[in-house]
Amino acid sequence: MSVDDRDMPAPSVEDLTGAGQIDADPFAAARLQAITTQEAIQQMTGADMRQHALKTFITLGLADSLDDDEFRTSDELAEICQADPQMMARFLYAMHAHGVLTTDERGNYGLTPLGQTLRPGGAMSAALGVITSPLWQQAGDNLAATICTGRPHSLNGEETPYPLLAADPGLAGMFDTFMSSRTTGLAATLSARNFAGFRTVADLGGGDGTLLAAILTAHPHLDGILIERADVAARTEHRLAEQGLTGRVQIIAGDIFDDLCPPADLIIVSSILHNRDDPANLKLLGNARQALEKAGPHAELWVVEVPLPVPGLHSHGIDLDLRMMSLFAGGRERTLPQYQNLLAQARLDLINVVPLPGDHHLMIAMTD
Ligand SMILES: C[S@@+](CC[C@H](N)C(=O)[O-])C[C@H]1O[C@@H](n2cnc3c(N)ncnc32)[C@H](O)[C@@H]1O
Repeated sequence: MSVDDRDMPAPSVEDLTGAGQIDADPFAAARLQAITTQEAIQQMTGADMRQHALKTFITLGLADSLDDDEFRTSDELAEICQADPQMMARFLYAMHAHGVLTTDERGNYGLTPLGQTLRPGGAMSAALGVITSPLWQQAGDNLAATICTGRPHSLNGEETPYPLLAADPGLAGMFDTFMSSRTTGLAATLSARNFAGFRTVADLGGGDGTLLAAILTAHPHLDGILIERADVAARTEHRLAEQGLTGRVQIIAGDIFDDLCPPADLIIVSSILHNRDDPANLKLLGNARQALEKAGPHAELWVVEVPLPVPGLHSHGIDLDLRMMSLFAGGRERTLPQYQNLLAQARLDLINVVPLPGDHHLMIAMTD
């Protein structure tokens, strides 16, 4: 139980909107004003060429042509990839600028840690695979139709892309890796928190188990429950077994919005609420509250999301909100006060908000 959190005063709505944070950043306004219209046009429309370049890096086999700590000349890489040497030299020059490649003292190229994630199964490779898949691309192409009709236009009548992922194991595997690579950064911060007062941690929609595995590994006194869709649960079971966690985790193939959660004194929902509308989330939160009440008054709910910033400011949440709009019926990012209100409707009190990497926030709630 994180006693420190409970001792903290409840956050005011001003704290929650991040207003203090904005005042404390004297460069935020300057950054917004400093950019000219032409620079903004270049930055916003240039993103597609960077995405093409990253995909091309994979297609050419460059990510596989260099071992860690290995450096090769531009001509060697052109020969390995059967490419035109001059074109290749220009392409490598660009990828160096993008931080995918580094150079040694002779000007030969090697992969940076970022470049290594472009290998098959790597984080950026999986992210690109998902984002440039026909399903994700169609969702973006149909955004205008989605805005006009109020419903995503690329889901074949489904509410979310998850049933479509289940029918496409290749894409589903990349989605798991994409989520897991993003969650790995959060898992280090979250698992460093104080879990001394907890016994059972339930991760609802816990994906491939990245977060739960990190927490259980760091805190050997804990047991875990992970509830997932049947297709994902089967892969997760295998993955957690590989990490030696089989005896400590109960994996349940179920529906986190409809099924009751077994009692747990810490329930985590990470990147779940933003996929659905308020009524669906209130069912999930109502079920979670019952499980927390059975566990005792010390029990906590941890919600991890990327809240929307105050109007006019950009954060990762702005892009994610349009992504949710295009791919999830009722999916949306919310402001911190909207999350506080949603939790209150499920009779859960928001007691603390902790900033996490990548514009994510941990919202800690307890039964009222
Ligand atoms: C955006 S991912 C987040 C995964 C993980 N919590 C994380 O933060 O990395 C959402 C997860 O919720 C799962 N999910 C979606 N709807 C579900 C449902 N009705 N029941 C169980 N799991 C569900 C999906 O399979 C997916 O793994």
